[in-house]
Amino acid sequence: MATGTEQVRLLGRSIGAEVVGVDLAELDENDFVLVHRALLDYGVIAVRDQTNLTPEAQIAFSRRLGDLEIHVAAHFLLPGHPEILQISNKKSADGAAVGFEEAGRYWHSDISYVERPAMCSLLYALEIPPSDGDTMFADMYAAYDGLDGATQKRIADLTAVHSYAASFAGETAAGANRATLTDDQKAMLPEVVHPVVRSHPETGRKALFVNPGFTTRIVGLSDDDSRSLLGALFKASVHSQNIYTHKWRRHDLVIWDNRCLMHHATPYDSSYIRHMHRTTVIGDRPV
Ligand SMILES: [Fe+2]
Repeated sequence: MATGTEQVRLLGRSIGAEVVGVDLAELDENDFVLVHRALLDYGVIAVRDQTNLTPEAQIAFSRRLGDLEIHVAAHFLLPGHPEILQISNKKSADGAAVGFEEAGRYWHSDISYVERPAMCSLLYALEIPPSDGDTMFADMYAAYDGLDGATQKRIADLTAVHSYAASFAGETAAGANRATLTDDQKAMLPEVVHPVVRSHPETGRKALFVNPGFTTRIVGLSDDDSRSLLGALFKASVHSQNIYTHKWRRHDLVIWDNRCLMHHATPYDSSYIRHMHRTTVIGDRPV
């Protein structure tokens, strides 16, 4: 219900805002428009103090933004609510992990390795450690805008391969701790090709759409040229001026737009519990 106390405040330089005075569990149309507008304007928003956000309410709110993805990691879905992926270091009674413990500790755009990648992701903080475990976000509009004209021209019509399996193999070889997929799960994830620069379907702005997590090569370039160009684009993307670092508060529901942002989780002291519920809204095929 609209209370008249709704406020949106920019926290970062160009991206990152907090929204206070709204209750996502009982959101009227005016507040929905306000939240949606804030997401488009700031790329990532933290809706504060969502003390009553049940799994049903998070799913219902997320559905107002679009269809929801069911994550391939079936063993980490919330029992009874497969729309919710658990990001957690909690263990069940038999000692098994209930969720991804070290999810996303590399720069990426969620599920960019499918034909219709995530439009946005919503992460609800049920329990957080007293410090650390921040999430960093990179503004991919600013990354594109900051490129010199020759580079913008060079990449205008290029496409790139995104692959969970290939990138998973590379990360594992490099020693990263990433969740294991079965062969069946990998077979469900063939590589896909997306434009290197995409136009945001709602704002019309151009954003760079390559990420170190899942983008493996540029189509039509030699391996060396592809590696060198991707390296330059990744470096430009994570310039400190483009980054907003979110310091979590309990009961934040953070929503980010994967069409124009990358994100990167950071470590925390695992003697504390960090327990979160994620929903993911499916987006359009990038163009
Ligand atoms: Fe992620």
